[in-house]
Amino acid sequence: MTEFKKHIEINKKAWNKRTSIHIQSNFYNNEEFKKVKDSLKSIELNAIGDVKGKSLLHLQCHFGQDSISFARMGAKVTAVDFSDVSINEAKKISVKINVHFKFIESDVLELKLDKEFDIVFSSYGTIGWLPDLDKWAATIATHLKKRRIFLLTEFHPFLVLINNGYYYFYSFKPDIEIENGTYTDGGTELVTNTCCWNHLLTNIFSALESNGLKLTHFKEFDFSPYLLE
Ligand SMILES: C[S@@+](CC[C@H](N)C(=O)[O-])C[C@H]1O[C@@H](n2cnc3c(N)ncnc32)[C@H](O)[C@@H]1O
Repeated sequence: MTEFKKHIEINKKAWNKRTSIHIQSNFYNNEEFKKVKDSLKSIELNAIGDVKGKSLLHLQCHFGQDSISFARMGAKVTAVDFSDVSINEAKKISVKINVHFKFIESDVLELKLDKEFDIVFSSYGTIGWLPDLDKWAATIATHLKKRRIFLLTEFHPFLVLINNGYYYFYSFKPDIEIENGTYTDGGTELVTNTCCWNHLLTNIFSALESNGLKLTHFKEFDFSPYLLE
């Protein structure tokens, strides 16, 4: 097994443990979500436009709140995550609220579907878990129809300096941490190992461009939906 694969396995264990806490958390407020079926933020809603009738591939969907929100808006959603616990929870929620879409358990770096989509989407807290942006961009490029949209709404890579004081530039070696708890409420007893990488804007753009995507829209915000909305 390569070093990257070992790191991904470590992360998968962490996400499986976290998911059970997240489902119960006030942060994700899943009981309320099941009623309103909308977890999308203004940033992605303003950027993505009308999704009705469009095929949408959601990468790193966690337990599916955003996937369900897009499906409720009329998109034909395929949602992918490497956490089996997350995918199983997403399936349970979709059956419960009768909003259906396709779920796939896979590492996004290894994803091979025999299908191209109108939209590929990923958001908030995703690429930092991926060691290899070139493979990530290749996944996007091979699953996107020509001249269609890939939308990424992500935390600014500069935040690691402000929040954690990490080294700003990408390093092949991940930042390996033993974490107590998670980013939601609850789970104070949870202990996980995690491996993360900080990806510079330059690296994100060049990975996408070298896989044939063209940057048409880029915006930075002075707020985070997870702190202010
Ligand atoms: C912060 S969450 C997803 C973000 C989403 N905005 C949310 O809060 O529901 C990150 C997700 O990435 C998934 N993930 C991490 N590394 C992955 C990989 N290599 N392949 C597929 N999924 C991965 C985790 O299982 C987790 O569900």
